[in-house]
Amino acid sequence: MIVSPSVLSADFANLERDVKMINQSNAEWLHIDIMDGVFVPNISFGLPVTQAISKHCTKVMDVHLMIVNPDQYIAAFKEAGAHILTVHYEACTHLHRTIQNIKSHGMKAGVAINPHTPVSVLEDVLQDLDLVLVMSVNPGFGGQSFIPRTLDKVKALKRMIVERGCSTLIEIDGGVNADNAVDLKKAGADVVVAGNFVFKHNNPIEAIDSIYSI
Ligand code: DX5
Ligand code: ZN
Repeated sequence: MIVSPSVLSADFANLERDVKMINQSNAEWLHIDIMDGVFVPNISFGLPVTQAISKHCTKVMDVHLMIVNPDQYIAAFKEAGAHILTVHYEACTHLHRTIQNIKSHGMKAGVAINPHTPVSVLEDVLQDLDLVLVMSVNPGFGGQSFIPRTLDKVKALKRMIVERGCSTLIEIDGGVNADNAVDLKKAGADVVVAGNFVFKHNNPIEAIDSIYSI
């Protein structure tokens, strides 16, 4: 499984240091959480900080938009360095159009679903998606506990992907650690986001490796 450490749990006063630390690790992606205080009850950071991270980041920039009206910002996030742009199913009225819009800007397109959203709602767009991000906590904050029901959703999503012959990746976000990552891998996860588990660990590089060695 690919590990995508979440910058949300980094030290914002030392972002360059923390991004360079991730550059030195085996993590292949860097997860960037954008929160608008409307779609989720928290505000993280936006375009200028994403752009600043991209100046130092040598990993794949995996940007997770927890915002309303994501269409309005697709071109700007491309400019700011995003390689993968993930929008929320619950925030998009014309999801198919949004996905095409992301791809037309030369980025990989992802759709995230909240814990209460069944995977079946993605049936008719799955073939267009590079990534499905399954939220294993309610979005808005780092450091929350993993919701166990997520494992069944991952299994169901994996079945849908295999049945349709798609190459869509499954990413899990929220409360991931080296213990539940074992079950996530068995269930069919391809990518795990890890915020607190990596950045609050006394050795973040080892924390990342502990997931890679599963
Ligand atoms: C939550 C964010 C997550 C968060 C994960 O809304 O989408 O990416 O940073 O943090 P942990 O791994 O601490 O749950
Ligand atoms: Zn996230």
